[in-house]
Formats: sequence, C-alpha cells, structure tokens
Amino acid sequence: MSDAHGPVVYGLNDIVLCHTGISHVDGHLGRYRYRDYDAIELVNNCELAEVWCLLVDGELPSAARRAEFAAELAELSAIPPAVTGLLPAVAGLGERAGGIGWLQTAVLLLARSLDWPSVLELDRAALRRQVLQTLVTAPVMLAAMHRLRQGLDPVPPDPALDHAANVLYMLSGEAPPPAHARALEQYLMLTAEHGMAASTFAGRVIFSTGADLGSALSGALGAMGGPLHGGAPTLVLDMLDEIGSPDRVEPWLRDKLVKNERIMGFGHRIYRAVDPRVEVLREIATRLGSARLALAGLVEQRAAALLDEANPGRTLRANVELYTALVMEAVGLPRSLFPATFAMARLVGWGTHLLEQHAGNRLIRPVTAFAGGPVLPVPSSAERGHPNG
Ligand SMILES: CC(C)(COP(=O)(O)OP(=O)(O)OC[C@H]1O[C@@H](n2cnc3c(N)ncnc32)[C@H](O)[C@@H]1OP(=O)(O)O)[C@@H](O)C(=O)NCCC(=O)NCCS
Repeated sequence: MSDAHGPVVYGLNDIVLCHTGISHVDGHLGRYRYRDYDAIELVNNCELAEVWCLLVDGELPSAARRAEFAAELAELSAIPPAVTGLLPAVAGLGERAGGIGWLQTAVLLLARSLDWPSVLELDRAALRRQVLQTLVTAPVMLAAMHRLRQGLDPVPPDPALDHAANVLYMLSGEAPPPAHARALEQYLMLTAEHGMAASTFAGRVIFSTGADLGSALSGALGAMGGPLHGGAPTLVLDMLDEIGSPDRVEPWLRDKLVKNERIMGFGHRIYRAVDPRVEVLREIATRLGSARLALAGLVEQRAAALLDEANPGRTLRANVELYTALVMEAVGLPRSLFPATFAMARLVGWGTHLLEQHAGNRLIRPVTAFAGGPVLPVPSSAERGHPNG
C-alpha cells in the first residue's frame, strides 16, 4: 500500500530504523550475531559476563578487564532501601503475580528512588552505570518479590556465585546444581539481544524523547509482556499440559488452526526458516533430561507440517519460546516467572541499544497515512443539538 508519504508497511517489517553495530539477525540464513561474533558460538564458548561486556562495551574482555567489570557490577548490586521497603506491597498486588509487570514496576521504582534524570542530562559513563545497575539489581528485586509473595524472606545474592547461579539461588535459597546454573547462563546469553524486536523499538522510541532510562526500559518491558513477544513461554507449557499425551497432539493442533488461533512457540517475524536458538535450547533441554522432550518434539514436527498446510508459501517453524519453556522448567524456575526471566535476559540488549541511541539521538517520530474523508465544516451548536444553541 502506498500514499503521498511513500509505502505504508503495517507492522513496520523490513523498515530500517537506524544503523547499529550491536547485533544482526539474518532471517534467511537462520543465524544472528552479537557485534563481530556469531551468537551461538558465544553461547557455547563464553560466560555471561563476557557477553555483557561485549554488548555494552563493544569488545570481548581480557581476563583483567573481566575482573574490573565484575568489580564494577558488584559495586552496583545494592537495592536502595526505599525500594526494598516497597517490594512487599508490590509483591502482594494482583492475581498475575510474577509477570513482566513485576519487573517493570521494580525497574521504575529503582529509577524513581535514585531520581534518574532525563537521559539528555547524562554523559555516556553515567548512562552506562545506570544500565549496569539495572542488570544486577533486576533479579534481586524479582526474586525478593517472588519469595515475599509466598510469605518467605528474600534471600540476598551470594557474592561467591555468578549471575545465573544467583538468580536460581535467590529464588530457592539453595545453591543450584552447576548443570542448572550453566543451562540458565546459556539461556541468558542466547536471548541477551536480538535486533530491532518490538520491545527494543519501544525502548528506543521512549529514550529518543529524552525520558529517563527507567521509563525507556519500562516501556521495553511493557512491549515484551504480550503473548506475541515475550509472554509465550508460560503459554507453551500450558499448551503442552493441555495436549497431555502424544495421541492428542494432532487433533489439538488442528482444532487450534480451525479456530484461527495462534500456536504458541511457532512463527517469527524475521526468521523465514529456522530460528537458530531452537536447536541450542533443544540440546540444553536434552542435557537436563526434560521429561517433556518427546511431546515437545512431536508438537514441533506436527505443528510445522500443519502450519505449512494452512499457510502455503510461508514457512512457520518453532521459535525460541518452545524449548525455552522446557529449559526454564528443568532448571526449577517457577512457571509464573518465565516471561520475566526472558525480559531480564534482554535488559542488556535494551540497555546497549539505549547507549547507542544516546550516541546519536534524534526523536523517533514516524507519520501516519490518514484514511478518513475530506475536512468538513463543524456543525453549529443548534445542529449539534446543544440546549442553548
Ligand atoms: C511471532 C508472530 C507474532 C509473528 O507474527 P507475524 O510476523 O505477523 O506473522 P507472519 O506474517 O509470519 O504470519 C503469517 C500468517 O501465518 C499464521 N501464523 C503465524 N504464526 C502462527 C502461529 N504461531 N500459529 C498459527 N498461525 C500462525 C497467521 O495466520 C498469519 O496470518 P495472519 O496475519 O493473517 O493471521 C507469530 O508467528 C505468532 O503469533 N506466534 C505465536 C506467538 C509466539 O510464539 N511468540 C513468540 C515469538 S519469538
């Protein structure tokens, strides 16, 4: 569709927003990179702190730089007392406890309590510090709310554990098996960044107005909460529960498609064939001995075939969310926290995009194509039935 402004693209697919050096997703070849490296290679060979450093600072760190980076993070890990005091109240609100909304509220509380100003008032170093502070405090606040909701005391992070192990430790109060910590660490690296996702776009739009970092991240979190983006992993597990047994896979999927409903964990805006994250997560779920592997594998296979039948010419395959659900369940994350864990993983990607936006900020302000009729004269008061008209 086209008008005086040029082509109109609903959903903005294939519209270029900006140049970036952070990441690139190649939907046709089914791969993605973080800066100069293939993302899957990083996931298989690196630790989370290295990937954070690569994204935020642009280079894989040397051992000395890693130690400095770890010290920087440690220094930023305290939760402001004003926020700690508010977490029990937030944890007690609503029925949908644990969702991305919790994380969104926590990030906003952090920003408000520390009085973060407009990003236009900050230099890069100050903004980078806020980004890192959000990365290290987010899981502490989330785990505290999860425990408070259950009537348990929060568990502070253990400085001897790395980030991923601490996420699990702060939830259960017990040091996780190394296999679980490594699986979560790989997941956090795998989903740290992914091009101009809807949430990243939302964050950059808010940032471009000169709002504070908390508002921009909160906007990104809000965008990620929907089932079409980051809300899917919980729904995937609900789907597998509902299907229940292999004989129900085919009829269940057919019924969904007949009703024109979406199958969670399938399809992607950018990937036209495989989503490379699927294979990595399937391997991790296998390594962890997930009890749902056989059922998920059958769903993966049959849904692909049925989606091909229903959408000729469009290849719809499993996306990151299908096996994410299995991995998160196998490492012991509570189901209600799946979307928030995905969002927590992506905080570093958003933060890096916002640092990039900061370096060459220009207000993001697209236009619309007006689809109404010609301008009409406003009817008089009498014509509008006004009593004194
Ligand atoms: C991810 C998603 C939002 C991408 O949406 P999109 O780019 O607008 O989708 P496409 O243009 O590729 O879809 C083409 C058609 O395929 C069908 N389709 C796409 N994904 C589908 C799915 N998961 N189940 C059933 N049908 C699907 C739809 O009928 C769509 O046609 P429509 O727009 O007329 O309804 C979509 O695939 C989806 O809703 N997936 C399920 C939710 C999910 O797993 N989200 C996590 C993403 S990482």
